[in-house]
Amino acid sequence: METLRVQNIRKTFKLSKKQCKIEQTETKLKVAVDDVTFTAYPGEIFGLLGPNGAGKTTVMRCIATLIKADKGDIFVGAHSVLTQSHTVRKKLAFLTHELKLEDHFTPNFLFKYFSRLHGVEDAIALERKTELFNRFGIDKFQEVKVADLSTGMKQKISIAISLVHDPDVIIFDEPTNGLDILTAKTVTDYLLNLKDRGKTIILSTHILQVVEKMCDRVAIIIDGKIQVCDTLDDLLTANKNEDLESLFFKLMLQTSGESYA
Ligand SMILES: Nc1ncnc2c1ncn2[C@@H]1O[C@H](COP(=O)(O)OP(=O)(O)O)[C@@H](O)[C@H]1O
Ligand SMILES: [Mg+2]
Repeated sequence: METLRVQNIRKTFKLSKKQCKIEQTETKLKVAVDDVTFTAYPGEIFGLLGPNGAGKTTVMRCIATLIKADKGDIFVGAHSVLTQSHTVRKKLAFLTHELKLEDHFTPNFLFKYFSRLHGVEDAIALERKTELFNRFGIDKFQEVKVADLSTGMKQKISIAISLVHDPDVIIFDEPTNGLDILTAKTVTDYLLNLKDRGKTIILSTHILQVVEKMCDRVAIIIDGKIQVCDTLDDLLTANKNEDLESLFFKLMLQTSGESYA
């Protein structure tokens, strides 16, 4: 199993005129992520907690090799995202509730298609499909076109498909966002199962309870910068805070100087 190391990454976006207007700024450059460093280990769930716009998705997309950081590097084991992106992609899955599935294909077809795309042998793919479809209750719908399935079922299928290559590192952007309560439970239970199997899991969220329930360690990110990073217990002790909520708002206040009370 592989350790994930994010090392001093910085990502700047060029804003369009329209974006400048929306952000009410004249400056055309937006620093979305600044000097972000953390390590996530096999067998743990690492949480990236922050408000909307903090830079969570940008960090996730850099890890997933979808965008390139301007500075710094990211390592999956010994492999660099910048220079060995092909190897990294084989070891990693990027899960997001925003993934789109083609409407006129069936779960069976899609699973087989993506297995072959990842170079997974048919016999192994079948084994994984049986496990994942059973786990997510997809069995009954294997031959139903995506267009005719519920949103929750589509979400579960897209997660199952993202895991065809049995990746060591799983990153999940806002895992329970937009999921109905039952689907959310299935997904969180499965993440805990993957953790028990020694996978390295990084999830991003703006929901305090997700961190409290699932994460072994957490980094709080505000305005593109990691403010603190540790186990929840050690963070609360070090900051003399009673709970995650009060620590979170204290950090928000310190960072932005505005009142969120
Ligand atoms: N493609 C982009 N172009 C311009 N600005 C972007 C782009 N992607 C993200 N941003 C900006 O970077 C900041 C961080 O965004 P994001 O990583 O999506 O935050 P989060 O996922 O924590 O809500 C925000 O201010 C967002 O508007
Ligand atoms: Mg986001």
